[in-house]
Amino acid sequence: MNILGINAYHGNASAAIVCDGRLVAAVEEERFNRVKYAAGFPAQAIGYCLKEAGLKLREIDHVAVPRNPYARLGTKLFYALRMPSFARERAKVLTKFTGIPDALAQAFDTDPKTLGTKFHRIEHHQAHLASSFFCAPYERAALLSADGLGDFASTMWGSGAGNRMEIDGAIAFPHSLGLYYSAVTQYLGFLKFGDEYKVMGLAAYGEPGHLAAFRDILRFDAHGNGNGFRLGLDYFTHHRTGPEMSWAAADKTPTLGKMFSPEMAKRLGTAARLPEEPLDQRHRDLAASLQARLEEVYLGMLRKLAERTQLKAVCLAGGVAFNCVANGKIFEATPFEQVYVHPAAGDAGLAVGAALYVWHQILGKPRAFVMEHAYWGPGYSTEQVRRTIETSSLASKGFAIAELHEEELMRKTAAIIADGKIVGWFQGRAEWGPRALGNRSIVADPRRPEMKEVLNRRIKHREIFRPFAPSILAEATGEWFEKSHPSPFMTLAYSVRPEQRDKIPAPTHVDGTGRLQTVTREANPRYHALISAFRDFTGVPVVLNTSFNDNEPIVCKPEEALDCFLRTQMDALVLGNFLITRA
Ligand SMILES: [Fe+2]
Repeated sequence: MNILGINAYHGNASAAIVCDGRLVAAVEEERFNRVKYAAGFPAQAIGYCLKEAGLKLREIDHVAVPRNPYARLGTKLFYALRMPSFARERAKVLTKFTGIPDALAQAFDTDPKTLGTKFHRIEHHQAHLASSFFCAPYERAALLSADGLGDFASTMWGSGAGNRMEIDGAIAFPHSLGLYYSAVTQYLGFLKFGDEYKVMGLAAYGEPGHLAAFRDILRFDAHGNGNGFRLGLDYFTHHRTGPEMSWAAADKTPTLGKMFSPEMAKRLGTAARLPEEPLDQRHRDLAASLQARLEEVYLGMLRKLAERTQLKAVCLAGGVAFNCVANGKIFEATPFEQVYVHPAAGDAGLAVGAALYVWHQILGKPRAFVMEHAYWGPGYSTEQVRRTIETSSLASKGFAIAELHEEELMRKTAAIIADGKIVGWFQGRAEWGPRALGNRSIVADPRRPEMKEVLNRRIKHREIFRPFAPSILAEATGEWFEKSHPSPFMTLAYSVRPEQRDKIPAPTHVDGTGRLQTVTREANPRYHALISAFRDFTGVPVVLNTSFNDNEPIVCKPEEALDCFLRTQMDALVLGNFLITRA
C-alpha cells in the first residue's frame, strides 16, 4: 500500500512516500527549485518520490495532506468576524487545499477522474506528532509539538503507544512559542523567514538580564489542561492583524508580517533594532533573555508532560523543536531520559508525519519503521557523477581529478582536512530536513580556532556569531561531550567537556556547547569512515560539518556541488569516489 504525504501551499513545501509502512523517499521542494523554504505546490518533490519508489501516480492508494481546514472552526470563526482580511485569507487557503487533487493530477498529466486515490486531511500538529513518534525507536513515548501556528494551534501534546497516539491537549492561536520567538527575532532586526536560529546563536553571547520583562511577554498559564502558557498580547500584533505568512509567488521564499507592537519596545526599554544597525551587548542580552524564557516554559511543559504520562521517552516536532539549546537541557531539567526529534521537525516533516498518520492512526497498521538516518532524498550514480565531471572540463581548467578506492579516498581526504583545507563532501542520498549530515556537507578541521572565520570569509558568508557544528563518531561522544545520548540529526546541543574545548575550538560555541551530530557506522558508513580516518591522523574523532551551500538551499545534484565548489574558495571537492583538488 502506497501513501503519498504532501506539504503544499505552506512554508517548507515537501513530499514523502510511505510504502507498506516504510518510508521510501522524502524531500523538500526547495532542493529542486532552489528557493529557500519554498512554499508552493511541491510538484518536483512528488515527482522525485514517485520515481524513487518506482510508482506512477495512479498507484498511490492514499494522499495525506497535513492541513485540516475544519480544525478549531469556532476559534477561526471568532477571529474571522473580527478581522475580515483574515477571513478572506482563510477562504483563499481553503480553495487551494480543496484544489490539491486537481493540482496533483495536472502536475502529472493525469485525468483526475482516473485517480483511485483517497485523500485525507490530517490536522497540522497531529502530523507533526506522527512525524516524530512513528519514526522514533520507542514503543511508548510522550509527545510534544510546538511551532508558530498550524491549523490555528501552536502546541499539542499527548502520548503514543504502539501504533496509536492519544492527544491530551493543545494551545490555540494567538498563543504560540514559535510566534513569541519570531516576534522578538524581528524586534532584534532579523526579518527573514527562518532567522530564529540566528538569534538562538546570538543568545550565547549575552546574559539573561531582561528575564523579568520576558516573563511578562510569555507567561505560564493554566489553560490547555494546566500545561499552558499565554502571550502578553499587548506586546504583539498578530492577534489583531492575523497570522500573516505570505509569498510573492508560488516559488518564492515566504515572509512573515510584523508581529511585535510598540509596547514591546517600551517594555524592553529600547527601540527595535533595524537590520543594518550594529549588534551591541544589549541586543545580545535580549536574545539571551528571550532564549532563557523559552527554555523555562518549554522545559516546564515537558516536566508536566513527564509527570502526567510517567514515561521516560519523549518525541518532539514543530519548529520550536529545532531549538537544540533547549533540547540539550531536557535530560537535566525533566525526568525524560530519551529524546527523539524528527530531522525535519519544521513543516517539511509534515509530509512524512501525515503519511505515517494515515498508515497507523487511520488504517490501524502496525509499526514497521524506525527513522535511523536522514538520507531520504535524491542520490546519483557513479556514472552520473562521472558525466558531470567530464562535461565540466575541470581537467583543462587545471584541477586535479582522481577516482579512488574507498580506503584511499578516506585517507587522502582526511589528510587534506587535517592540513587545514576546506572540503566539499558529496555522497549518497541527500538529507531530509535542514541539516547537512555528512552527505551534502562542507567539512573542515575542528582543531583550528581560525577555521570559523576562514569558512565565513571564503565560503559561507554568515554572521560571525553563528556557530558551526561538530560531527563526532558516536562511540566517542561521552569522551568529548558531557552527555552521550544520540543526536543523529543535530537537534541537541551538549556542553563540550571543559578539558576538550581547546582541542575542538572551531565548532565549540562561545558558551562551551556544540550542536553535535553523532555518527554511527550503521547510519552513514562513509562519513563514519572519513571521521575515523581523521581521528587516525589527529587523535580527534570530530570534524567540523556545515551545510554544502552558500546562502541558498543545500546543494542537491552533483552539478550544484561542483558549481558551489567553483564559485567559492573551497580547496577540494569529493563527489562520490572522485577527489577534485585545485592545482
Ligand atoms: Fe508546523
